[in-house]
Amino acid sequence: MTQTAPNYALGSSDQEIARLDGQAASIEAATRLLLRAAGVGPGMRVLDLGTGLGHVAGLVAELVGPGGQVVGLDTSVKLLEVARTRAADHPQVTYVQGDVRNWRDAEPFDAVVGRLILFHLPDAVEVLRHQLTALRPGGLMLVLDFDLGSSRAEPAVPLVTQTLEWVDAAFRSAGANPVMGTGLAMLLEGAGLADVQTFGIQGYLAPDDPRGPALLGGVVGALATQIIAAGIATPEQLGIGTLTQRIAAATQATGAVVLPPALAGAWGRRAS
Ligand SMILES: C[S@@+](CC[C@H](N)C(=O)[O-])C[C@H]1O[C@@H](n2cnc3c(N)ncnc32)[C@H](O)[C@@H]1O
Repeated sequence: MTQTAPNYALGSSDQEIARLDGQAASIEAATRLLLRAAGVGPGMRVLDLGTGLGHVAGLVAELVGPGGQVVGLDTSVKLLEVARTRAADHPQVTYVQGDVRNWRDAEPFDAVVGRLILFHLPDAVEVLRHQLTALRPGGLMLVLDFDLGSSRAEPAVPLVTQTLEWVDAAFRSAGANPVMGTGLAMLLEGAGLADVQTFGIQGYLAPDDPRGPALLGGVVGALATQIIAAGIATPEQLGIGTLTQRIAAATQATGAVVLPPALAGAWGRRAS
């Protein structure tokens, strides 16, 4: 069994762990809303695909309550180790190492959820078809992913536009889809889910809110090796050591609001 998927561009370094924590905090409210809208609730048995540090598994644990069960699945031994050390508040969560493309449990699930996992899986529909069989009939599948195309500064800030172009190109060069959020409903329908619904949620960060520059600078830092190796930009062009500060200075000087990528959610039911 592989420990990381072949196209997974972001890794599991300590810096990446800190970045995942910051990113998870920025989309926690949107994720909770989408989990509720889809119908995740008390007593359910839920599988979390690509659980990473267990952020989604923890939110699901709150919704399913003490009578529910959550299994967090990931290939990364390192991320799962960290998730387990944080699991004290949620005894109903179990973390398991395995690949979303072929892992199976003996017991069916009431719901399968997955946030920021499909965008870097070239075989996303096959993964969903496989995971559909993990659901009981009538069970719920909910997937969440970013739409990077919705991200911008308003009014436009050239450094933000440039940064978003680097991120978009880096993900595509690694075989990942940065606008996966736009296509989630079609993927679910293609995989055979019924009654599919979808919407997205987007934040608006004030010009002096440090979270906007930190998110943008952080993701470029995580992708820097890929950006340079793919010839998208040179280390000098990235200027990674000062990128976050330069974005902050530019958004403040322009009075620009930063719109991080919308988090889209789509869900449907296993028909039979
Ligand atoms: C961007 S992180 C998202 C983590 C978490 N779902 C969240 O939203 O905070 C993607 C996660 O998927 C995991 N992953 C990638 N490919 C996988 C695969 N084929 N099977 C299981 N996990 C995988 C990575 O190890 C990583 O933890």
